[in-house]
Amino acid sequence: MKALITAGGRGTRLRPITHTLNKHLVPIANKPMIFYALEKVAQAGIKEVGIVIPLGDKEIEAVVKTGSKWGLRIKYIEQTGGPLGLAHVIKISRDFLKDEPFLFYLGDNIILSDLSEFIKDFEKNKLDCLLALSKVKDPQRFGVPEIKNGRIVRVEEKPAQPKSDFAVTGIYLYNSHVFEAVENIKPSARGELEISDVHTYLIEHGRRVGSREITGWWKDTGKPEDLLEANQLVLSNLESEMKGEVEEGVVIQGRIKIGKESRILGRKTVVRGPVVIGENCLIENCYIGPFSSIGNNVEIYNTDIENSIIFDFSDINCEARIVDSLIGTNSLITSAKKTFPSGHKLIIGDQSQVEL
Ligand code: TTP
Repeated sequence: MKALITAGGRGTRLRPITHTLNKHLVPIANKPMIFYALEKVAQAGIKEVGIVIPLGDKEIEAVVKTGSKWGLRIKYIEQTGGPLGLAHVIKISRDFLKDEPFLFYLGDNIILSDLSEFIKDFEKNKLDCLLALSKVKDPQRFGVPEIKNGRIVRVEEKPAQPKSDFAVTGIYLYNSHVFEAVENIKPSARGELEISDVHTYLIEHGRRVGSREITGWWKDTGKPEDLLEANQLVLSNLESEMKGEVEEGVVIQGRIKIGKESRILGRKTVVRGPVVIGENCLIENCYIGPFSSIGNNVEIYNTDIENSIIFDFSDINCEARIVDSLIGTNSLITSAKKTFPSGHKLIIGDQSQVEL
């Protein structure tokens, strides 16, 4: 079995971060998002992986490289024509997939569980398609399956009256019958070849479409608040590791991971885990609270931070409390009180969000 992982799309809901960074490289607990997908694929015993990237993209390959780190062989497939939908992703990957069954994994989904049982189910029950489902509180926001005798008879997109409390996640298994569907469906009103239309086509043409529930959590990281929640979920399982230096007098509570060459200083400093701090950081007289991920080469002074993701090379010294925030690479946050005229002086990119 092969795997196909998406790393294209527009990432509009994560702007301005995605103006300069492919969404799939956003760090979650200091690891690029797409690494979580690669780990799951490798754990399931798959070796050959196609990653679909935007036309001309060099970022993903520069970070993921050959895949040997996970024991994988990776082929990069450019989505020529633009981000024309998830079924289009499958369509353009046919040369790579040939007629073999494959795991289709949306690279912005993060899960806890192992996928080996999904593959066993798919093979044992001779399915043409298997959808990974997750129980959600608000099925109205998702594609919702109607299940009869263990088989999916319909998938409704964002139904007002959901027929189950499951959402179709971004993890699917297919055999070559999927190509009949992608070749025959038509673009939707938004001009995309939709994956839900593929599933409807397969069901209507008598193909065997099964499902299996994902145990543990599942997170689709489309929006900033989803990224923060994914960061929380991953940090919940953090194991402590101390490679940096912590000055005497600093209060450390809970599970903390600190990278090499990082220094945590100051009698007022409290680091309350779960918290991950990267390499070569300097933190002085700060409160770093639960569910914070601080990247590499970050300096933070006289600031409180909680439930936030701070990307590499940022510099923060602002005598304020920063919560529920995403701070992009190389950002500078200083105190408004230090310079004149008084007031908040902002240089922020397009589509930024700031609360003052
Ligand atoms: P989405 O989250 O549906 O879309 P997006 O990533 O473009 O984000 P936004 O809605 O904020 O603009 O995409 C789900 C996954 O599929 C994600 O990994 C991106 C990927 N994708 C492609 O690779 N090609 C495509 O044509 C589309 C639509 C998505």
